[in-house]
Amino acid sequence: MRIRKKSWAGRELETNKRFIKINYKNKWHEIFENNNTQINLEIGCGKGKFITQLANKNLNINYIALEKYKNIIASALRVASSVCENNNLFFIQDDAKNLEKYFCAQELDLIYINFCDPWVKRKHEKRRLTHECFLSLYKKILKPNGKIIFKTDNHMLFEFSIKEFIKNNWQLENINKDLYRDKNLDLDIMTEYEKKFVSQGMKIYYLEARLNL
Ligand SMILES: C[S@@+](CC[C@H](N)C(=O)[O-])C[C@H]1O[C@@H](n2cnc3c(N)ncnc32)[C@H](O)[C@@H]1O
Repeated sequence: MRIRKKSWAGRELETNKRFIKINYKNKWHEIFENNNTQINLEIGCGKGKFITQLANKNLNINYIALEKYKNIIASALRVASSVCENNNLFFIQDDAKNLEKYFCAQELDLIYINFCDPWVKRKHEKRRLTHECFLSLYKKILKPNGKIIFKTDNHMLFEFSIKEFIKNNWQLENINKDLYRDKNLDLDIMTEYEKKFVSQGMKIYYLEARLNL
């Protein structure tokens, strides 16, 4: 994703109530202030439309979106503030490699990884969000029956991810190598990248990976 500098980004992060400024590790209920028991996380939320729509649709689930860059998460915060009134969505700005700073063991039910950077060069494969270094992190913070929902347009990344999940003893479900072939597109909440790729006629690869404990 191209990162445009935004003069208003710093101010948005300072003032937006959905932006996490203190650490809620093991006490997320204090900020959500509701009786929801489930917390779902999106890693690399980009401009945040996907997670905001999910939060609006599923008021009984709490959502957290993580994004690495200030200038991108600022847009996500604006989107969320303009179309989401409920208290079930918050945003963290950080790198996924620091997830344990924010979540204790077994705190999450579900992790979405949507169209993450494929890092096509072999020497960069450790940066892929489905590399086993990341999978072992996710394993710690997910509940024993927790799962990951992973989507990509990149065939190489998809095949690599399948191998990583299997090698690390995750159970794969609902593998689909052309998600929208038989589906009514209107039924789905799509991410920004997904919408773009589908409109270009590209295939979307999909899988769910469950912890095999
Ligand atoms: C290709 S974009 C996809 C955005 C969105 N998920 C979508 O599908 O439209 C990848 C996003 O992940 C973020 N990202 C990349 N690496 C990350 C990391 N290690 N931790 C957190 N976010 C990351 C990028 O800044 C970018 O916003």
